[in-house]
Amino acid sequence: MGWVKGEVRELKRWTERLFSLRVDADVEPFKAGQYNRLRLFVGEEWVARPYSYVNPPDVRPLEFHLVAVPEGPLTSRLMHMEPGDAVELMPRSTGLFTLDQLPDARDLWLLATGTGLGPFLSILGTDEPWRRFENIRLVHSVRHGAELSYRDRIREYARRAPERFHYQPLVTRERLEGTAQTRISVAMQDGQLEALCGLGIDAVHSQVMICGNPDMVRDTQAVLKGRGMQRNRRGHPGQITVENYW
Ligand SMILES: Cc1cc2nc3c(=O)[nH]c(=O)nc-3n(C[C@H](O)[C@H](O)[C@H](O)COP(=O)(O)OP(=O)(O)OC[C@H]3O[C@@H](n4cnc5c(N)ncnc54)[C@H](O)[C@@H]3O)c2cc1C
Ligand SMILES: NC(=O)c1ccc[n+]([C@@H]2O[C@H](COP(=O)([O-])OP(=O)(O)OC[C@H]3O[C@@H](n4cnc5c(N)ncnc54)[C@H](OP(=O)(O)O)[C@@H]3O)[C@@H](O)[C@H]2O)c1
Repeated sequence: MGWVKGEVRELKRWTERLFSLRVDADVEPFKAGQYNRLRLFVGEEWVARPYSYVNPPDVRPLEFHLVAVPEGPLTSRLMHMEPGDAVELMPRSTGLFTLDQLPDARDLWLLATGTGLGPFLSILGTDEPWRRFENIRLVHSVRHGAELSYRDRIREYARRAPERFHYQPLVTRERLEGTAQTRISVAMQDGQLEALCGLGIDAVHSQVMICGNPDMVRDTQAVLKGRGMQRNRRGHPGQITVENYW
């Protein structure tokens, strides 16, 4: 399949390593929670990697939230892009980390580490979660407070239903007021997460989406499975839907 030419509109830097790219490109319609691929010619070959959309499907430009990983062949280039620079994308987006994969339930939990926040921002920017779920909880775990990105946008989305929404930042490697110093999986195990969020998690009422670090995804799933929850699979509805970033 051919690639589509994109043009960088803006690079926003959150920290030295954490950034967001806004890109103009003519891609086919996609669903909130899906991802595209970004491709650059590096050295003597094309390097392409998947990236989740941050923008809701009806909003342009396209937006991606990235972290430059040490010696990462693609991110070490993308982090230095400037307005007007070229990057290629796939015409068609993919991925099943979308709300249409989830059965109805009362509560929606969105659990992210690092840039795993991205697809949840796209989802929260659509009507569907607010229409389908009574309570929504967004949990963002980062190492340092400066990595708590997109707080303004989260505040903006929360205005749709402040009494039904709660955002819980977790900062694991420093003590910071207004945040808890714990991991998602640990706080899930010891009940702190539910206490902080003012809502219980159980197989009857909760749908849980988990995105980011695969170790976090594994550890958090293990806790949920211990509570009788199962992965959502085609033909076998459960309560857990995951996206591993590596
Ligand atoms: C479905 C899907 C969606 C993705 N969406 C995003 C996204 O929206 N934003 C994003 O930054 N990355 C995302 N990734 C990861 C991304 O595709 C690349 O792997 C990453 O940008 C590193 O690329 P690289 O070529 O620089 O280094 P690579 O050689 O590809 O990665 C080197 C190592 O860096 C670590 N790593 C990779 N990605 C991350 C990350 N996001 N956070 C922390 N550590 C990481 C892992 O240990 C990995 O083995 C996604 C991956 C998948 C599978
Ligand atoms: N963030 C930095 O300051 C920094 C600096 C230099 C290099 N890097 C490198 O950059 C890349 C991305 O780093 P990142 O900080 O964005 O992503 P990350 O390492 O995935 O950390 C993001 C969050 O996930 C948590 N986490 C990790 N493993 C977990 C598990 N098994 N269960 C529950 N939670 C878990 C972390 O908690 P913990 O803090 O408890 O692990 C942290 O709160 C990595 O390759 C890293 O080595 C990061």
